[in-house]
Amino acid sequence: MNEDLKEIFEYYCKYSKQLSQDELVSMLREIQEVCGGILTSEALQCVCNELGVKENYINTIIKFVPDIKTEKVLHRLFICGGVNCKSNNCGELHNYIRKQYNVSPGETCEKYGFSYNVCGCLKHCAYGPNIKWDGKVYSKVTREMLDRLIRKK
Ligand code: FES
Repeated sequence: MNEDLKEIFEYYCKYSKQLSQDELVSMLREIQEVCGGILTSEALQCVCNELGVKENYINTIIKFVPDIKTEKVLHRLFICGGVNCKSNNCGELHNYIRKQYNVSPGETCEKYGFSYNVCGCLKHCAYGPNIKWDGKVYSKVTREMLDRLIRKK
């Protein structure tokens, strides 16, 4: 383990290794910064070992923290599953993601490095279907827009 990580662990785990979610997220952000902008698999493993938790636990916590990126999950996609987006045909986007990128809600598309989930109302109902990509809401989303975001076209 490198000195930067040791220093971070000493600071956050000074009194207890049972960190609150906020403390854990803050610690992960610092680790990501010293790792050059991505929470590397090696660093993630160090966190798991240090705190005595499984990687799934960390992944569950950071699922909704768009600024924390791992080697497997560089981006986070949420498609609104709210009532109004359903009436604006968000189902077509869900089907498209499933077919085109072979990923279901709760899974990660490793080829393109994004996680995919369905979320509740994004408070932009009049402009649906809506999605959230890396924390930013996009409205009136089409298949082409999804492709551009995912494939960086
Ligand atoms: S239902 Fe999708 S933004 Fe409100």
